[in-house]
Amino acid sequence: MKALILSGGKGTRLRPLTYSGAKQLVPVANKPVLFYCIDNIAGAGIKEVGIIISPETGQEIKDAVGDGSRWGVQVEHIIQETPGGLAHAIKTARTFLADSPFVMYLGDNLIGDDINRFIDEFNNKRPDALILLKEVDDPRQFGVAEVSKDGKVVRLVEKPEVPPSNLALVGIYIFSAKIHRAIDRIKPSKRGELEITDAVQRLIETGGRVESFIIDSWWLDTGKKDDILSANAVVLDEWLKGDIKGKVDKQSRVLGRVSIGKGSVIKASTVRGPVVIGENTLIEDSFIGPHSSIGDNVKIARSSVEHSVIMSESELTDIERMDECLIGRRVRVSKNSRHKALKLMLGDDSVVEV
Ligand code: DAU
Repeated sequence: MKALILSGGKGTRLRPLTYSGAKQLVPVANKPVLFYCIDNIAGAGIKEVGIIISPETGQEIKDAVGDGSRWGVQVEHIIQETPGGLAHAIKTARTFLADSPFVMYLGDNLIGDDINRFIDEFNNKRPDALILLKEVDDPRQFGVAEVSKDGKVVRLVEKPEVPPSNLALVGIYIFSAKIHRAIDRIKPSKRGELEITDAVQRLIETGGRVESFIIDSWWLDTGKKDDILSANAVVLDEWLKGDIKGKVDKQSRVLGRVSIGKGSVIKASTVRGPVVIGENTLIEDSFIGPHSSIGDNVKIARSSVEHSVIMSESELTDIERMDECLIGRRVRVSKNSRHKALKLMLGDDSVVEV
């Protein structure tokens, strides 16, 4: 079994962050989303991993992941010249995949479980495709499946206005080599992409056996700001281990599960977990509240932060209350008490609520 991780695409829903970086490298609890995918793939014993990258953000992904030796896997980076859809990404990786069965894992998807059970299920039942599904309140933003009582997939539709069920397609699929023939037979969708849902639908129509697995763990597609904040909160709640390597002075209080990296200093501040703070970060006269992830080399002074992700090298000064914020790298936010007016320098597609 091989694995194909999709880390190309445009990332339009996460602008302006994705103007300067790949959305799959946005950190959740200070670790790129993509790394959780590789953890799961390596944990399932898969050794050959292809990663689809785009010409724009591919180098950053190559730099972050390297050759995969950190996970004990071999990574081949495969450039997809244009984001032609999930099925197009498989087409692009045809030489790497050869005729092997493979797990396709969307590089912006996070699940609260490992993938071993799904691989065992595929190996036992040997279907042509195994898709993972999750019941959601509003399936219209996902691929949606109609499933018979015995778990056979009858129909798949991509982002339907009237969904046939509340079963959304999770971004993890396991395919036999038969998927390639189905992909060769589909045409681009209305949004101009070769959709994997259409390819699987074609597989069903041509007599292929498509099984489904309804997952009971949490699942998050980190494609938008609120999804990242939710993922951050869930991962901190469920997986964070308290570990204090930095310095906490006598005037500070650290409560609950908190991880503080090497070289970081907490002065006259309260940190209430679950919170992760990276390396060489300074927190002074501040409150860092639950569900916050603060990156490396950050400075926070006389401010209060809760339910937020603050990425590396950013600075917050005199901010009374920062709640549910997603702050990129090298951002400076400060309060100018002499002027009532806001003084802003914001990149394209920034969002500010005052
Ligand atoms: O998250 C689950 C959903 O993912 C499924 O329910 C949908 O059926 C599936 O189509 C997909 O929908 P999205 O609209 O969320 O896909 P997105 O364009 O965000 O792409 C998912 C990942 O694949 C992302 O990491 C970028 C990467 N990608 C995307 C395209 C279109 C590529 O590497 N190449 C591509 O051509």
